[in-house]
Amino acid sequence: MVLINLLIPLLLNTASTMISGCPNCGDLQVPYPLSTSDYCGDPRYRVYCNNGSLEFLSAKGIYYKILRIDPFASKLVIMPPQILKDTCYSSDLAESGFLLDENLPFNISTNNVVMLFNCSDNILLSPLNCSSNSICRDFEKKVEEGSGCAGTLCCSFLKDSAMTSHRIRLRLGGCTAYTSLVDYNPHDSVSSWTYGIELQWMPPY
Ligand SMILES: *[C@@H]1O[C@H](CO)[C@@H](O)[C@H](O)[C@H]1NC(C)=O
Ligand SMILES: *[C@@H]1O[C@H](CO)[C@@H](O)[C@H](O)[C@H]1NC(C)=O
Ligand SMILES: *[C@@H]1O[C@H](CO)[C@@H](O)[C@H](O)[C@H]1NC(C)=O
Ligand SMILES: *[C@@H]1O[C@H](CO)[C@@H](O)[C@H](O)[C@H]1NC(C)=O
Repeated sequence: MVLINLLIPLLLNTASTMISGCPNCGDLQVPYPLSTSDYCGDPRYRVYCNNGSLEFLSAKGIYYKILRIDPFASKLVIMPPQILKDTCYSSDLAESGFLLDENLPFNISTNNVVMLFNCSDNILLSPLNCSSNSICRDFEKKVEEGSGCAGTLCCSFLKDSAMTSHRIRLRLGGCTAYTSLVDYNPHDSVSSWTYGIELQWMPPY
């Protein structure tokens, strides 16, 4: 009897979770609590299905494509913005980079190595690796997308708990482009880097 009393709420809970999951968006499953409409998921965890592409909306009104979702770890990975061809400007520079609404249950996880490009000298004061052997130099030299940033002052850093977990800031006169790697391992070659910005959500209960 005790076992049944324990099991029934557990089963009901599992069932309601499945019922309120959202339909797939393109090839991606949309697991609870993520929500693509008012009729599924938890509305605080809003994501957008735009023409078969699942997207995350920043506080600045920019949509970032969601590449993958791990519901068990409460994590998703979005695609970093493009660096515009023949420039060292990220496509979200005009919106000051990536910004998360602090009232939403998402933050930037500590599993990201961020690279900033075309930075001004005053950035050297912060705890970043802007040395000539920083991995951002490899991105400038070996990756086509980074070629417009070649020769600029660049820095890399682990987005860890010592940093704000709600933004990657860009501005003219600061740094004007960025990219990010998830699951970075110093032994990886440049061609095997995994680009992405990993976000984490607070479980709904
Ligand atoms: C929607 O996606 C389809 C297939 O990827 C594409 O052909 C079409 O142009 C897209 N429509 C819009 C409005 O983006
Ligand atoms: C900067 O990063 C490079 C490459 O990972 C590393 O070899 C170097 O020790 C780092 N320098 C500092 C000051 O952290
Ligand atoms: C670097 O940033 C400055 C402003 O801070 C800008 O004027 C310049 O065009 C940028 N360089 C590149 C290569 O985009
Ligand atoms: C991000 O959110 C997760 C889940 O709520 C939390 O465990 C973690 O401490 C937060 N990280 C930061 C850096 O705020």
